[in-house]
Amino acid sequence: MNILIIGSGGREHALAWKIAQSPLVDTIWCAPGSPAMDLLGPCFDVAADDVEGLQKLALQLEPDLIVIGPEAPLAKGLADFLRARGFDVFGPSQAAAQLEASKGFAKDRMAAYGVPTARYGRFTDIASAKAFLDTLSAPFVLKADGLAAGKGVVIAATREEADAELSEMLSGKFGGASAELVIEEFMEGEEASIFVMTDGINYLTLPAAQDHKRIGEGDTGPNTGGMGAYAPAPVMTPELMKRVEEEITVPMLRGMAGDGMPYRGVLYIGVMVTADGPKVVEFNCRFGDPECQVLMMQMEADIVPALLACATGGMRAREFAQLLPAEESPKPAVTVVMAAPGYPGTPEKGSVIGNLHHAGHGEGVMIFHAGTALDADGNFIANGGRVLNITATGDTLREAVDRAYAAIGEIDWPEGVYRRDIGWRAL
Ligand code: AMP
Ligand code: GLY
Repeated sequence: MNILIIGSGGREHALAWKIAQSPLVDTIWCAPGSPAMDLLGPCFDVAADDVEGLQKLALQLEPDLIVIGPEAPLAKGLADFLRARGFDVFGPSQAAAQLEASKGFAKDRMAAYGVPTARYGRFTDIASAKAFLDTLSAPFVLKADGLAAGKGVVIAATREEADAELSEMLSGKFGGASAELVIEEFMEGEEASIFVMTDGINYLTLPAAQDHKRIGEGDTGPNTGGMGAYAPAPVMTPELMKRVEEEITVPMLRGMAGDGMPYRGVLYIGVMVTADGPKVVEFNCRFGDPECQVLMMQMEADIVPALLACATGGMRAREFAQLLPAEESPKPAVTVVMAAPGYPGTPEKGSVIGNLHHAGHGEGVMIFHAGTALDADGNFIANGGRVLNITATGDTLREAVDRAYAAIGEIDWPEGVYRRDIGWRAL
């Protein structure tokens, strides 16, 4: 079969790499893809959020399965358009993708289905937002309702800060995305990322991962898209995983299906492990980046039957449950992000990255490209904020981490910025 993958980041490189290993697959196509993905299959210069262009491309290629990586096209309804043309698509409908695209929508669904999360309110005017803030204590959590490239959440330490932030957000700090706000209670605890692959009824829970959102070691400095990740995350004990399944996954999937918005694809549950148990911080309608790189690295089974089953639905529960047999006792894996200098501000592009080929040949090591380009001489150069994902497995997390950092030591890219403490919570 032939599979079209939408996206161009480290997440999509990892998905393409994993899918390419399937004996079921003849050809992989990517749009827009990247120079690294081009080594796995032809790339087409159509942007990931160009819904019309992607429909045309799909009609031309006629893939047997389309896997949508990022949230933007899902929020624009790409999955619906492609399904309406008869394609099998891994990714939720526009209605279901609102779980990520509108934080207020997600909170309302959780409230309706009795899913544990922070107490909240939705606001479009300053006076009622302030009245709600009066009922909370510091720190205050303010969220732009819409998609804001991962930057739409502000945690204000004081009420003065919260009031100032409130005015800025409502007057367009994040454009239309912050015309409406969610304000919520602050939750204390440790975070984890849980990924549920589902056809809308059946589901498979992948090993819990932990992301490292801050730029600096020891989780300091500004937030980023994620500077590294590892899995399995020991904070998510089997008991907690069971609670997530019973208290979050099942009611969400049942509720969404019951409301005519069955969720098909991968549901990313950002969980806070609080003193009262797991609570939802956020939902995303896609794999995490860089968590996906870790999950693809440690997954032993062929992912393609699971992607297909989620896309097409209708599989019997018992068969569905057997699609990824080894996920119960996953191999530890880690990914360390190498970013361009300046990230998460404006990254400096163009520095040459050397010795990648050799560095990527260490045992249990795979280097995924998140933001590289080729220069005129055929060298990989930095071409984004997050540039490389140095990913490794091992018999222990320690071994995986040592392998990843050994590979980084081999890469000739003095400009590259990375954290030296990925996995510290588990180690
Ligand atoms: P989000 O984009 O919703 O994941 O929020 C970004 C980050 O803000 C999360 O990963 C958390 O670290 C933090 N955060 C969001 N909501 C809360 C909350 N209610 N309590 C504590 N931290 C939160
Ligand atoms: N790593 C966080 C995200 O993908 O949103």
